[in-house]
Amino acid sequence: PVADDTPQVLERRDVQSVAKYINERGARRFIVMTGAGISTSAGIPDFRSPDTGLYANLAHLGLPHPEAMFDINFFRENPQPFYALARELYPGRYRPTIAHCFIKLLYDKGRLLKLFTQNIDCLEREAGLPGEMIIDAHGSFASQHCIDCQSFYPPDLMRKAVEKGDVPHCHMPNCNGIVKPDIVFFGERLPEEFFLNRHLPAAADLCIVMGTSLSVWPFAGLPALCKDGVPRVLINQERVGGLGSRPDDVLLLGGCDAGVRQLAQALGWLEELEALWEQT
Ligand code: APR
Repeated sequence: PVADDTPQVLERRDVQSVAKYINERGARRFIVMTGAGISTSAGIPDFRSPDTGLYANLAHLGLPHPEAMFDINFFRENPQPFYALARELYPGRYRPTIAHCFIKLLYDKGRLLKLFTQNIDCLEREAGLPGEMIIDAHGSFASQHCIDCQSFYPPDLMRKAVEKGDVPHCHMPNCNGIVKPDIVFFGERLPEEFFLNRHLPAAADLCIVMGTSLSVWPFAGLPALCKDGVPRVLINQERVGGLGSRPDDVLLLGGCDAGVRQLAQALGWLEELEALWEQT
């Protein structure tokens, strides 16, 4: 149910009204929140889609339950399944999608306040977004440490180990602990930068949520931090989280690539977006 006494900012809850709000009201402080759904068309499976999602395809690895793949205690006991997956997901083999390019286009147009991503595939950076615009809420493969002595582990040795499907071990004297990429596992705290930037959604004048089931906290709590009256656009196969409950929520249900094309078209930016993607 939508509260009928809240003033409506958008004329209608559709993409044309969002484009009008952006072009005529000059909205420039966009907060974007993304998940694995923006990388599936690049060939990287998401986690929870039935059949195609990662969690539906781990049976061959003999995990007690799918999310054990990213459980720090299970990893300490048996890092093999994670490293079998890391070999598939390791950055460098995939091309950013047009949804990643849309976020880069927002940045180029000076309208990106910050991107909060849950993804570990580094495709946002490969699309050209500078690191300072990205909050990697669940970490990434960009660095790795020993889980016992916390020593840093060299990236070149990491890439070699991952490509060979080996489990890298710490080379500090008397340690030999298992090395883990700086991905946030279940049971681990999110990076400080997530908490230090959690005030930003309240400063936004537009929120775009793309390709996420919003099923993992505290990331899932971000959209609710946007102020009332700030349009929240969901671009996702399915309705998720509390999106759609506010008068200015807009649901573009369907593929992320189709959704960003639809929004770019309404904004008059489609040619620029396609050209940007061509050169990525
Ligand atoms: N277009 C639009 N939506 C899509 C597409 C697509 N091409 N592909 C998938 N989706 C949607 C799915 O319907 C689902 O709602 O994206 C969402 C993906 O949800 P998840 O698989 O749960 O991925 P995510 O939300 O990123 O998971 C969050 O869970 O396992 C942890 O740490 C892991 O960061 C991950 C977190």
